[in-house]
Amino acid sequence: MSENLIEVKGLKKYFNVGSGNMLKAVNDISFSIAKGETLGLVGESGCGKSTAGRTVLRLYEPTGGSVHFEGTDIYKLSPQKMKAMRRDMQMIFQDPYASLNPRFTVTDIIGEALDIHNMAGSKKERKKRVEDLLDMVGLNPDHATRYPHEFSGGQRQRIGIARALAVNPKFIICDEPISALDVSIQAQVVNLLKDLQNRLGLTYLFIAHDLSMVKHISDRVAVMYLGRIVELAESEELYANPLHPYTKTLLSAIPIPDPAIEANKKRIVLDDTNNNFNLDNSELVEVSKGHWVSMPK
Ligand SMILES: Nc1ncnc2c1ncn2[C@@H]1O[C@H](COP(=O)(O)OP(=O)(O)O)[C@@H](O)[C@H]1O
Ligand SMILES: [Mg+2]
Repeated sequence: MSENLIEVKGLKKYFNVGSGNMLKAVNDISFSIAKGETLGLVGESGCGKSTAGRTVLRLYEPTGGSVHFEGTDIYKLSPQKMKAMRRDMQMIFQDPYASLNPRFTVTDIIGEALDIHNMAGSKKERKKRVEDLLDMVGLNPDHATRYPHEFSGGQRQRIGIARALAVNPKFIICDEPISALDVSIQAQVVNLLKDLQNRLGLTYLFIAHDLSMVKHISDRVAVMYLGRIVELAESEELYANPLHPYTKTLLSAIPIPDPAIEANKKRIVLDDTNNNFNLDNSELVEVSKGHWVSMPK
């Protein structure tokens, strides 16, 4: 039995959108991730994935629910203790260019992460650590004095990964880390993340808006729709036996390389304007071992 690194229970994050209206961006989601595991979190743009990720890391204060990291309830931590905890929990963002300061060199960007947690050591040690990190993510250590614009999109994402790794985290939320990259580059970044996971024993929450790449990196996948998880299963099981209509819709949106199969594939058009899924009156039910589906109560 593997131990859970992180346990999320009944997590809610509502945004006040004016006139007394609350947007339920994350509406009561629960999941756990075992040490060394990758949980995929998929769903269309706007369904609440990034908000869920940010709330799990307490970059947003939750509206309700709990997050236990190695048994510690992180929402109960003082700001001081939370800062220390942040070292263990890092995030990689979708757009590596927007998240890297254009006026900073690579050394400054990665070094800053070290400085925040007083891990830089002497100037020489700091330089050595940055070079080691660049080497670890497949970049030339001699390029440490360059600026973000001097790198390609894939290379910039590698810088973002190096920055996240700088503080030796245990858990990384990868928020659509490949969505902005050319298809030809996506597999390289996914392979790098997998390789780093094996070498460093990392645990990932891997966020994506389609199921195609998630399959290759995730042990289990949670499907999110309108702030809720509607299905959660082992990757193989989810792809072989999707049960929720929304999951089937997402799967029907993955292009199949064989044109003959692609032409015959049925596409499901999703319409929830009539609240077909009846989510307010549904709950997750375990229909076979480890396979959870949202069903009417
Ligand atoms: N800071 C915010 N204030 C108000 N609404 C927000 C905020 N952040 C996100 N939202 C809304 O919450 C919903 C979920 O957004 P998000 O978590 O970014 O979705 P995803 O990452 O799945 O695309 C969207 O309707 C979005 O407009
Ligand atoms: Mg997002």
